[in-house]
Amino acid sequence: MVGASFAYSLMQCGVANELILVDADEARAEGEAMDLNHGMPFVSPMRIRAGGYELLAGCDLTVITAGANQRPGQTRLELLQRNAGVIRDIVPRIVAANPRGVILVATNPVDILTEIAAEVAGLPPGHVFGSGTTLDSARFRFLIGDYLDVNPRSVHAYIIGEHGDSAVPVWSVANIGGIRVSDLATGEGKRIDGAAMDRIFDQTRNAAYEIIQRKKSTYYAIGLALRTVVEAVLRDEQTVLTVCSPMKGQFGVEGISLSLPTIVGHGGAETVLQPPLDPREIGLFRESASILLDQYASVRA
Ligand code: LAC
Repeated sequence: MVGASFAYSLMQCGVANELILVDADEARAEGEAMDLNHGMPFVSPMRIRAGGYELLAGCDLTVITAGANQRPGQTRLELLQRNAGVIRDIVPRIVAANPRGVILVATNPVDILTEIAAEVAGLPPGHVFGSGTTLDSARFRFLIGDYLDVNPRSVHAYIIGEHGDSAVPVWSVANIGGIRVSDLATGEGKRIDGAAMDRIFDQTRNAAYEIIQRKKSTYYAIGLALRTVVEAVLRDEQTVLTVCSPMKGQFGVEGISLSLPTIVGHGGAETVLQPPLDPREIGLFRESASILLDQYASVRA
């Protein structure tokens, strides 16, 4: 459903002139392509077709959503063993068909799978990256905006580290109109105190569990998040998003992919930024890295 939701969102934004659906279940891919094409009279023209990896030749970007999804109560890390095999199978086929394209990984656990995909693909730095905490940051911004009655687009706040249980809220630089969120008082004098901050982050970090408990999977917001990342690549927007990519010493971390605010453009994760985190946030970021490095060691080829 994540891939279909992404495709549905993509066809409504007019950024792509062609979309190719590749799925182990060929009939499913054909059915999705047919269903999407029948909506073409209502959106900007684009070519949508289903087929094999050979159709990926010359594509600007390939998005990987294949793999098992979380079941109720299951962590993303519990999907690692199974989905690592999926990534190790898919990535070489993508690169063989399209050695110059950029690869965006969305399959969970997305951080470790992005690291595996980058190692397997052997493409230039930044050309293999993952959706990371792009969705977590969106949830965080929505919940802060909902609490303070501010449009989430005007809430500049990031979740970094793992797209998962060790995610890190960056309150120290979260701001609205240049005012730190923790210092902001709304017209009615409403402020975010410590208890509200904890509640907002808890709802952010546990959002997927809560949704999966109710409707078995998440797909709309991640579909929109993937479309936003793809727009940044295809339009070479140089947009800052908290995608994940292989760390090269940021805050002393390397050997694993994690999310930090990153400038995204035609080359994928082009520039990883290091915001002025406070010591506690740096410690949590490194803790997130340590957890994922341990997990990664369990599936290293
Ligand atoms: C979620 C999935 C995309 O957080 O991991 O909804």
